[in-house]
Amino acid sequence: MREVHEITDSPVQKKTTLYIQLADEMAQAILSGVLRVGEKMPSIRKLSGQRQLSLSTVMEAYRELEDRGLIEARPQSGFYVRQKRNLATPELTAPPKNPSHVFIDPLLTPAALWRINKEISVDFGMAILSPKLFPNQQMQRMLSQVSRQYPDLISDYGESQGDIELRRQISRRSLLWGGQVEADEIIITQGGIEALNLCLRAVTKPGDVVAIESPAYFGLLQILESFKLKALEIPTHPKTGISVEALEFATRNGEVKACVLLPNFSNPLGSLMPDENKQRVVKLLDERNIPLIEDDIYGEFCYQGDRPKPAKVYDKTGNVMLISSFTKIAAPGFRVGWVVAGKWHKQIEQLKFINTYSTPVLLQRTIAKFLETGGYDHHLRRLRKSCAEQVSYAVDAIQRYFPADTRLNVPQGGYVLWVELNSAIDTITLLQDALAEGISFTPGSLFSPSHSYRNCLRVCCVEAWTTKHEKAIERLGQLARMQLPQLALQT
Ligand SMILES: Cc1ncc(COP(=O)(O)O)c(C=O)c1O
Repeated sequence: MREVHEITDSPVQKKTTLYIQLADEMAQAILSGVLRVGEKMPSIRKLSGQRQLSLSTVMEAYRELEDRGLIEARPQSGFYVRQKRNLATPELTAPPKNPSHVFIDPLLTPAALWRINKEISVDFGMAILSPKLFPNQQMQRMLSQVSRQYPDLISDYGESQGDIELRRQISRRSLLWGGQVEADEIIITQGGIEALNLCLRAVTKPGDVVAIESPAYFGLLQILESFKLKALEIPTHPKTGISVEALEFATRNGEVKACVLLPNFSNPLGSLMPDENKQRVVKLLDERNIPLIEDDIYGEFCYQGDRPKPAKVYDKTGNVMLISSFTKIAAPGFRVGWVVAGKWHKQIEQLKFINTYSTPVLLQRTIAKFLETGGYDHHLRRLRKSCAEQVSYAVDAIQRYFPADTRLNVPQGGYVLWVELNSAIDTITLLQDALAEGISFTPGSLFSPSHSYRNCLRVCCVEAWTTKHEKAIERLGQLARMQLPQLALQT
């Protein structure tokens, strides 16, 4: 109220406020379904008479709605609610302020939830790309070439730090993101998951508090639970990632012992932290002596332009541990990942030795060859294009078929979509209904130790889009609406 009072002081501002107020009101009517898709908007003259507003104020409100993508003008006919809605973006999340132990209900893991089902015909649940998108034949050829060229690798334990050929290739590629990481600074792991395990083990002990994004990657929550660590969920924006201000506040009293972030195309939000925020977070955590574990597993999945920089590029003291993996891009079954562990290099190398000793050298050398011959870059370009297409089709379908008050984050990379439904909808119930019809997705509450986000879901776009996917999204929209009886008949 105070704000309205203040900005109505000048006549120009008063007019601005009025047209925005009217636009907001009409937008609400559209998003809640009172004004339906394709329906004609009240005429400008009629609305101006009813509301006792000038014609120009109503016209400006309609232009504002046009800009927001909610209505369109049709020549000699007036304004209509647009066919394709631009759903609003979810807002900054608001998780509980206190840290808590992580408890994952065994009945509420993705595996348990999906197992109840007979058969999944449309899988939006797993963040695992379709085998068709991987260069399997090329990898097969390379694997046999490498095993012919280096037959001794089969009987070779390899070094705990990892194959030098692969580390050199990773080092060479780090120049592309401005990292200039030396081969000696890299440790090869069994996928990103081993790297996450090792990093957390190196810098925490049971009972410690770890700051995480909210919502957070499910696998990370499982690790926190198994290490008896407490999670402190930090408010996170679906577009720009963790709130730096909230992280600053949460780390003021020395309680937080480590922080795990996915600055580039996070899972499940799809957020991308602006470089300035990455820089601020690196500086803040360094000043407060809190190690930052950066999971950059989706960093290469940008749809356009150069891949975003990892936060590691702003690290001047070795306080950032950067993790990535070839599982999402080249060969999930090879389980080859890596970490640049900064100050904790020696500890991580030792922990790797204790944990799995080494990562199969033959598989590491095969990935190294793939990187060396340029096959990797060619494949990556195709993969980025496929993911961008799959995501764009899914976005269109969700905008068309989900209830009008749905919020959706449209990411700039990766292949997961975060969808927020009306707060009355329970996505675990929705999943049970969907599974009965062979459709899967991941309910939002799985991504939060406080089991928040019960009205949210993650939709993974892991294969080429077909009418089967389109129909599945349409059906999910219908099933969601069925939990809202008063909206069941609306589009
Ligand atoms: C954010 C994130 N980090 C790590 C992993 C684990 O990666 P990997 O399969 O390389 O162990 C995943 C897998 O889904 C992931 O989504």
